Amino acid sequence: MTPSIDGRIVLRDWNVPNATREYERTAATFDADAWIIGRVSMEPYAGKTRIPARKSREPIAREDFVAPHDAESYAIAIDPSGKLTWRENNIDGEHVITILTKAVSDNYLAFLQAKGISYLFGGQSKIDLPSVLQRLRSRFGIKKLLLEGGGKINGTFLEANVIDEVSILVAPVADGSVGTPTLFDVEKNAPARSLKLMSVEKRPGGIVWLRYKVR
Ligand SMILES: NC(=O)c1ccc[n+]([C@@H]2O[C@H](COP(=O)([O-])OP(=O)(O)OC[C@H]3O[C@@H](n4cnc5c(N)ncnc54)[C@H](OP(=O)(O)O)[C@@H]3O)[C@@H](O)[C@H]2O)c1
Repeated sequence: MTPSIDGRIVLRDWNVPNATREYERTAATFDADAWIIGRVSMEPYAGKTRIPARKSREPIAREDFVAPHDAESYAIAIDPSGKLTWRENNIDGEHVITILTKAVSDNYLAFLQAKGISYLFGGQSKIDLPSVLQRLRSRFGIKKLLLEGGGKINGTFLEANVIDEVSILVAPVADGSVGTPTLFDVEKNAPARSLKLMSVEKRPGGIVWLRYKVR
């Protein structure tokens, strides 16, 4: 994640020219199997397309669906009610997996299947993160997963205590905008997690790379 010094994460008018390059370069050092982001952050990557009306009235079972693919890495979204209108089943060659709840419509499931997009059910109406992470491993072999924001998905992972390490590129910006997403936005008052500092590295453009283990 790339937060400002006050933890805000929407880059708007930050004017940090090398932020994206440093973000991608840093992410690559982890050699991860997949990355996961929230529905809001995924919208620009998913694109826009029309969801066709389904002709069949046959109900579709609420079972995980692994679409045929030969990708070695994965782009994953949490989209509980099926709002993303995916244009493709991959992002730069990385196979798309979407995490849904069972409340999504048959029409939407038929759309995903026709597009060749894999999906897992996270629960009836809520997402059970430990169960999803176990199935990402058993069904797709995903062992190392980069959690790449925004604040809401990060907050749910923090609350579920399923983060091993925090890696942040602190941008040289004091943002100050009240109400903007932050590094971790937890809905309820979850207990704060204590971190152990692992490394500090100065990066071009005044960016500082901090790595922590979650205790
Ligand atoms: N600076 C950085 O490094 C960085 C990185 C990534 C993103 N961002 C920025 O972050 C902003 C978006 O952040 P955000 O906090 O508003 O949104 P977000 O975390 O990207 O997406 C939140 C949405 O994802 C779904 N979701 C995520 N986790 C869930 C869970 N465990 N259970 C159920 N639903 C879950 C929900 O979708 P529904 O609303 O459909 O229920 C939720 O409202 C964007 O402006 C983006 O540019 C910054």
